[in-house]
Amino acid sequence: MDLKHNVIESKMKALLVFTIFCLSSSSAQDLKTITADSGQTVTLPCRAPNDKILRGVEWSRPDLKEQYVLLYRDGQFLPDDQHPSFKDRADLEDTQMEGQDVSLILKNVSTADEGRYECQVLTPERKRGKRAVETISIINLRVAPPGPTGGTAGLIVGLSVFAVLLVAAVGFVIYRKHTRNQSVDSFQPSSIELQPLESV
Ligand SMILES: *[C@@H]1O[C@H](CO)[C@@H](O)[C@H](O)[C@H]1NC(C)=O
Repeated sequence: MDLKHNVIESKMKALLVFTIFCLSSSSAQDLKTITADSGQTVTLPCRAPNDKILRGVEWSRPDLKEQYVLLYRDGQFLPDDQHPSFKDRADLEDTQMEGQDVSLILKNVSTADEGRYECQVLTPERKRGKRAVETISIINLRVAPPGPTGGTAGLIVGLSVFAVLLVAAVGFVIYRKHTRNQSVDSFQPSSIELQPLESV
């Protein structure tokens, strides 16, 4: 009976490990979430496979329809159909695309920038007259609204400082109590403590 129980338990464990493995491997694909505070500059990473010859890159957000976040082709940016909200805010990490790096830099982000960013590289090949594009990565950008605490980063710093102060205060109180007890025990009868200090 005990053995049967063990077998069931080990099967359950195997299932659990398998589930965790599936979850972690699906999130290890090119689907990332990046969190930023309002006003920050963020880099949305994208790196094309080494065997790809790159003509350029297009960063887009499906909810912006035809307009893109950034389009760079044959050595130049094409601002014509860029969504106006990204004008002068979107840039490439490296226009040489060295090391196949086509990461996007987005300055001064706000909550309006939240969404799903798709990185597609343009290659010289053609498919039915259309330039071949390939989606490399998809990044979910989340932006914390501006607040008096200075966003999540400020909040974390604030909480850490508070925790350090709390530990210091508790430590001090314990230390004080300890040394006072010691001095009372060793030098004075406890009744003296009740008398005003001026008379000593
Ligand atoms: C950043 O964006 C906000 C609007 O989201 C704007 O009011 C502000 O002037 C911008 N700051 C800079 C430095 O461009």
